[in-house]
Amino acid sequence: MSPSPDSNDPRRPGCHTTADLSRAGWQKRYDAGKTGWDRGAPNPMLATWLNTGKLQPCDILVPGCGRGHEVIALADAGFDVTAIDFADGAVQSLTDELKRRNLKAKVVQSDIFAFSQPRSFDAIYEQTSLCAIHPNQWQKYQQLLAGWLRAEGTLFAMFMQCDERDDPPYSCPLETMQVLFSKPAWHWHDAIKQVEHPTGMHELACVLTRTNLEK
Ligand SMILES: C[S@@+](CC[C@H](N)C(=O)[O-])C[C@H]1O[C@@H](n2cnc3c(N)ncnc32)[C@H](O)[C@@H]1O
Repeated sequence: MSPSPDSNDPRRPGCHTTADLSRAGWQKRYDAGKTGWDRGAPNPMLATWLNTGKLQPCDILVPGCGRGHEVIALADAGFDVTAIDFADGAVQSLTDELKRRNLKAKVVQSDIFAFSQPRSFDAIYEQTSLCAIHPNQWQKYQQLLAGWLRAEGTLFAMFMQCDERDDPPYSCPLETMQVLFSKPAWHWHDAIKQVEHPTGMHELACVLTRTNLEK
């Protein structure tokens, strides 16, 4: 997955990076214990969405799941979960933890950009996966999310907010997200919440519906 410097970067056209965003690059981060994104527990926003009934048991996809604390919480809450990550460190840890807790989820070791799925999902839980992908691939990623969701399915997104930088996490400012996930394909729900992250950064919790364009 080598980023092309002059393609579709909605934020910084021509942006280039020296960061290793390949599967091996992410595996190195797991091997070195450089997993600062990992809270060691589910994102508190997930509990809010579950407790308020905004997110109810359904067929859900978690791309770039990492060690998958949210995958475990969703499986435990009765969701039919499919989780994708290409790093061994992520997939192995999640698979072991699911087994230890006697929970079921489909864990797919794959590049997100190579993942194909014949059926569509009711919901997608996107947590700091977009910020791990080079901005020149964001448009493609957005199209994949739209394609994986059924019409009127829901995207639950945690968009990372941080300083502009040339390696992950790539900041996902709200204005940029609103252009990337724009009408008519996407409808934004009103309540956007700021969620603090142990790194001192924060995420914006956003809920979007994939519009039924055939209506
Ligand atoms: C910043 S971490 C976030 C992990 C998890 N969502 C969390 O919040 O704890 C990004 C994850 O995405 C995975 N990843 C990055 N690019 C990917 C790609 N193209 N295909 C599959 N997984 C990818 C990495 O291996 C890593 O586990």
